[in-house]
Order: sequence, then C-alpha cells, then structure tokens
Amino acid sequence: MSVTILAIESSCDDTSVAVLRDGCVLSNLIANQDIHMSYGGVVPELASRAHQSNIVPVTHQAITKAGITNKDIDAVAFTRGPGLLGSLLVGTSFAKGFALAMDIPLIEVNHLQAHVLAHFILEKDKENRIPSFPFLCLLVSGGHTRIIVIRNYLEMEVIGNTIDDAAGEAFDKCGKVMGLPYPAGPIIDKLAAQGNPLAFKFAKPVIPGLDFSFSGLKTSFLYFLRDRLKEDSGFIEKNKADLCASLQHVIITILISKLVKASVQTGIKEIGIAGGVSANSGLRNAMKEEAVKKGWNLFIPEFRYTTDNAAMIGITGYYKYLRGEFSNHDVTPLARY
Ligand code: KG4
Ligand code: ZN
Repeated sequence: MSVTILAIESSCDDTSVAVLRDGCVLSNLIANQDIHMSYGGVVPELASRAHQSNIVPVTHQAITKAGITNKDIDAVAFTRGPGLLGSLLVGTSFAKGFALAMDIPLIEVNHLQAHVLAHFILEKDKENRIPSFPFLCLLVSGGHTRIIVIRNYLEMEVIGNTIDDAAGEAFDKCGKVMGLPYPAGPIIDKLAAQGNPLAFKFAKPVIPGLDFSFSGLKTSFLYFLRDRLKEDSGFIEKNKADLCASLQHVIITILISKLVKASVQTGIKEIGIAGGVSANSGLRNAMKEEAVKKGWNLFIPEFRYTTDNAAMIGITGYYKYLRGEFSNHDVTPLARY
C-alpha cells in the first residue's frame, strides 16, 4: 500500500508545501518572501503575515500539481521547529486543521533532521543515489552548523556544533558589512567566482574537537574593512569579488577541516552536506576534491533540496509514518527543538 504525505514547511521566510508518495516527490512548491531583502534580515512579524497569506494557495497548488485530491493524503507532516515562532505557528495550525478536517494523522518534524534526510528524497524517472548507514553529514544552514552521525533514518547523533554563529550567518553578516542585501550567501557565492580566494587572509579560529566558531571571523572581517575604508572609501567596491572569494575560502576551509577530522575519528567515509550553505558552489567543489583525496562516497543534494523546502519535511514525515510516530493535536511549535 502506498503512503501519500502532505508536507508543510514554514520555519523561516519561505512557505513551502510538498506532496510525496512513498518518499518520491510529486510536487514541491516554495513561495519566497522578497520583502525581507530591504531590511537586511528576516523580520519575524512580516514573515508570519506572509506565511498566513501564502499557505492556502501554495497548498492548493501543491496538491493540484501532484495530480491528487485531499482524499488521497494519508498524513500531514509539518515543521515543529526550530525556527521563528510566529512562522512555525502558521504551518503548525494549518497542518492541524488539515489533519483534523481529513481525519488523518499529524506528524511533527524537526527541521534540522529534515535537512539531513533531504539526502533520501526520491524523484521520479531519476537514478536516485542515497547514502547507506552510518552516514556522516555536515549540516550548514542560516542558523546551524553541525556534524551529525546518522545511524538510521531517525537515529542521529550530533558530534560537532557551532559555539556561536552558524556558517550561513557568517556569510550573511559579512555580506551585510559589504552592503549586500539579505541573504548575502548566494550573492557572495556568485561574486566569489570572479575573485581570488587568496587575495586577503582572515584568521581561522582554533577550536578544539569537532566544534566550530564563526563570530571571530565576522569581527576580523569587520575590522579589516573598517581599517581599509579609512585609507580608501572605495575599497569594498574595488575589491568586492576578491573579498567574497577570500571570505568564502576561509569558511569552506574551516568547514572541511572539521569534517575531515570527523571522518577520521568515526571511520565513516559515507559523507554528505546539507542545509542552505550546501548550495554554495565553492563548498560543493571543495567537497568533490576532498572526496577524491580521501576516498569518500560523497552525497551532495540537488540545489532545490539544500535551502528550506517541504520535500525534506515530507521524507522525514514518511519515515515517521512508517514507524507510526504521530503527534497529538495539543502539539505546539518550538522555536528551539
Ligand atoms: O537552510 P536554510 O535555507 O535556512 C535555515 O534553515 O537557516 O539556509 C539559509 C542560509 C542563509 O544563511 C543563506 O545565506 C545561505 O543559507 N545560503 C548560501 C547559499 N545559498 C544559501 N550560503 C552560501 N552560498 C550559497 N550559494
Ligand atoms: Zn533550514
């Protein structure tokens, strides 16, 4: 018997709804909120309002595009957290209402676990390559930077974590200092392609074990620019590509060196990256080079499954459904999960 899941993701600034059947994507729609660009970051109140107006039409489109009707849906999976509380509330309430109306199970999903399980999303008419267990994943998003050992679909252990800022935050905050709009990560990625990664040197933090730190890099980038701008007010404009390439280079170096260490420590060579920052072309290329050197079996998700999307919520919901892990209707969203 096949299992059809309706999945809702509303943890931050994108409203996404997907339909998956037996782990295979039938539709995965995302309504982006451009409104935050001019504010230099996500404005929580505006994000929840936009989710509120997007959620019904996006769900309608996702169901239509999947070629199914409401009655074909076996369960509703939704992001319970972590994320912005007001945004999560919209998705949670909508999922509860849908589950109640259709009398089907409700499945809460941890957004971070979903980023990792994006590696197991299946697509029709594709050669679907998925990792085997144990699997080591570097999760790099706007809010988190973690190294995770995945022993089974729903059994994960965090073995490395950031002690301050996330890698995505380092991209976004340094970008803001350069006058780039939010989110700066993808723009830095594009500009870096035309720059010299060794043009400027920024100090790498010395953090023991498998943990990360990015706040020192952000501060040293800020001070570096402040000093250069005193001498030349056009410094950023003249050196933008080199600045982006050098910043990206140091972030990638920090990320990969810890992942290499984690692989040696755990003996796991089944390696992947996930989360918004895993869309970064420099990181993707560096991972490919490292994989050849280290003999890794490497997994890099399709771009559409790196940043926030409901398909990853759907695949996690699918595995929870198979285990009968359902939520009660008194479930509430969690800003921290
Ligand atoms: O996973 P995600 O969509 O949302 C969170 O769960 O946080 O990640 C968003 C983060 C932002 O910091 C954004 O700047 C970063 O991912 N990002 C990138 C790229 N695309 C998105 N960072 C670097 N290069 C990219 N191409
Ligand atoms: Zn995310």
